[in-house]
Amino acid sequence: MNVLVTGGAGYIGSATVEYLLNHEHKVSIVDSLATGHREAVDRRADFIEMDLSERDRLIHFVMKGSFEAIIHFAAYSLVGESMQNPSKYFINNDACSINLLDAAVAGKIKSFVFSSTAATYGLPEESPIKETTPQLPINPYGESKLFLEKMLYWYNQIHGMKYTALRYFNAAGASTNFGEDHSPETHLVPIVLQAAMGQRKNVAIFGDDYNTKDGTCIRDYIHIEDLAQAHMLALTAPRSGHYNLGTGSGFSVKEVIEVAREVTGKKIEVSVSTRRSGDPAILIADSTLARKELNWNPLHENIREIINSAWEWKKKFPTGYNDK
Ligand SMILES: NC(=O)c1ccc[n+]([C@@H]2O[C@H](COP(=O)([O-])OP(=O)(O)OC[C@H]3O[C@@H](n4cnc5c(N)ncnc54)[C@H](O)[C@@H]3O)[C@@H](O)[C@H]2O)c1
Repeated sequence: MNVLVTGGAGYIGSATVEYLLNHEHKVSIVDSLATGHREAVDRRADFIEMDLSERDRLIHFVMKGSFEAIIHFAAYSLVGESMQNPSKYFINNDACSINLLDAAVAGKIKSFVFSSTAATYGLPEESPIKETTPQLPINPYGESKLFLEKMLYWYNQIHGMKYTALRYFNAAGASTNFGEDHSPETHLVPIVLQAAMGQRKNVAIFGDDYNTKDGTCIRDYIHIEDLAQAHMLALTAPRSGHYNLGTGSGFSVKEVIEVAREVTGKKIEVSVSTRRSGDPAILIADSTLARKELNWNPLHENIREIINSAWEWKKKFPTGYNDK
């Protein structure tokens, strides 16, 4: 297919672009490089530096591009920042996305795939989390993503544009060429690997008194190449839908650190501080629906393999991409 990928210079976007190109799709990337990297752009793709706020330019570009599908990664995604500056999140993740939705309608896009998130569930009352679990976000980031899911529902009802909202849990790992380089970094795996490389003194554990096996929070880590596979399958999904993407297994913060010690052979110091507000004890996905309806078949469900891939990338790019 001829696919437009927004946010293709970012962490998950870059690995998905690589995966699509490896599977004979044609890819164009639109990215402002606000949080992405020029070096993370796969050279085989067309790259257009553009911000989704550039409404007229974007609509013109999509109308001229003969695209069949759009995969929409471009967004801001720092939960803490969204609690300080909600406007930044609603403008970028929602208002700018409306420009993209209108461009998709004008360009007669047949399939729209959207990066949604477990953050739309807030503090869920059941585990594992199903697609039918109530979505009650507890921060502007999660709300901004839920709002776009709702907009997609209405664009589908009114314009007939098929969409797939993929609700990822904790994206982790790396492909051979593309990995995680966020600034600031807030995700556990890259933080742990920074500590392994001596780039930070220790790893902060926010609360070890949760009602879990070792007192630390449990999350569902999903390899970015498995996320990439789900996006490709979603392009040709027969109907609009919402799907959780996770492995269905949870690992605690302490377990992730222990596996990272084994993988890297390095000492990784920790410091325990108080809980962060709004951190649920356990977030685990029930991804039965994606496996059944999208024929999704994740291949890297082992946490050791996920951390090992991130470590291999980190050794190649110790300070991340070189375009900062
Ligand atoms: N990383 C995770 O664990 C995770 C979990 C759930 C959902 N998500 C969602 O997945 C998507 C990708 O996440 P990521 O970790 O790769 O983030 P990222 O910050 O690495 O990538 C986002 C990309 O979008 C671009 N971008 C942002 N706003 C833009 C705009 N207005 N116009 C053009 N480009 C813009 C950035 O420059 C960046 O390259 C996001 O939508 C995020 O909400 C991520």
